[in-house]
Amino acid sequence: MKVLVTGGAGYIGSHTVLSLLENNYDVIVYDNLVNSSIESIDRVEKLAGKKVEFIEGDICDKEKLSKVFEQFTIDAVIHFAALKAVGESAQIPLSYYQNNVYGTVCLLEVMQQHKVHNFIFSSSATVYGEENDVPYVETMKLGTPSSPYGASKVMVERVLGDLAQSNSNFRGVSLRYFNPIGAHESGQIGEDPKGIPNNLLPYVAQVAVGKREKLGIFGDDYPTKDGSCERDYLHVMDLAQGHVAALDWLNRHSEFSGVEAFNLGTGNGVSVFAIVKAFEKAIDKKIPFEVSPRRTGDLPAFWADANKANKALNWQAKRSVEQMMADTWRWQSTNPNGYLV
Ligand code: NAD
Ligand code: UFG
Repeated sequence: MKVLVTGGAGYIGSHTVLSLLENNYDVIVYDNLVNSSIESIDRVEKLAGKKVEFIEGDICDKEKLSKVFEQFTIDAVIHFAALKAVGESAQIPLSYYQNNVYGTVCLLEVMQQHKVHNFIFSSSATVYGEENDVPYVETMKLGTPSSPYGASKVMVERVLGDLAQSNSNFRGVSLRYFNPIGAHESGQIGEDPKGIPNNLLPYVAQVAVGKREKLGIFGDDYPTKDGSCERDYLHVMDLAQGHVAALDWLNRHSEFSGVEAFNLGTGNGVSVFAIVKAFEKAIDKKIPFEVSPRRTGDLPAFWADANKANKALNWQAKRSVEQMMADTWRWQSTNPNGYLV
């Protein structure tokens, strides 16, 4: 089976490509490298001992995309390509809607033209917005996220629903990721943010390696056990395997058409202070931090009800917080400058 992976050179994409190769899928990566490096694909190929077809291109470029569908017989698409910085999305919202919404529409149009109907979309827990109580479950209504980035994910989920209504061949899966962290256990691939990291784990890891002076903990006065925010952190390799499980599910259910959403998370909330402690334990060193003001748009706590994915996809997030920390550190300490070699 041949799978087109948009955004496959990025953080989650590269780990998923590795899992796909290990499960005997053929992979074509389509990525414009706006937030990634081709080096990730070279390393994935070495780890898997298999080749990946790489095409540099933008999902908004329908002509180029069309050529890819003409050149290869594609059975399914996994769509990671998107811009993902929550804060930046409020500064340049049009770029986010262009890339994430219009880009996805372009991809879906080209898929329709070439009669490719299997589609797996990178959605996010952010689609539950501020209205829903935790744990989040797939039967809840889509909420109102606090950022244009989050809104772009809600919009795409709506687009997929409408497309499925209009085309009974369409077979879509929205995977709602919670907070992916960690790296492949080899330490060869991992998260390589450009500039100052927005997310907690890359920031902690850069403090640990001496690239940043100290971590700012955004608020210690939330209504949680220790006052810091709680999130459902899951290992990126568990998340990668969730995509293989979703593809297998599509293959098993040849009668299925429509769109199905699945939460991919552990089901546990872990606080920022707990993450810092776990990281300190993994590296046997203190992480300098200070408590700073709350970050606009942060919710106090959310985690997944992952029962649907556990049962239907036969998937479970298995790796522990300790393993997430150890693998983050292996990647960061052996690649202090990421893929810049
Ligand atoms: P990433 O930035 O590492 O990967 C995204 C990849 O898409 C990059 O390689 C980038 O170069 C590529 N890309 C972006 N715009 C493109 C375009 N127009 N055409 C072609 N390629 C393009 O991000 P990631 O963390 O791997 O996230 C992957 C997906 O998962 C994204 O859709 C993101 O919104 C979603 N997601 C991520 C998280 C998270 O915490 N990392 C959480 C929920 C959902
Ligand atoms: N945090 C800090 N200091 C930092 C960075 C983060 O204290 O330097 C805190 C945040 O306030 C938050 C927690 O660490 O409480 C996690 O923050 P992240 O930025 O790592 O993750 P978020 O939960 O804010 O956002 C992530 C993804 C989004 C996605 C969202 C919901 O980045 O793409 O999960 O799935 F929309």
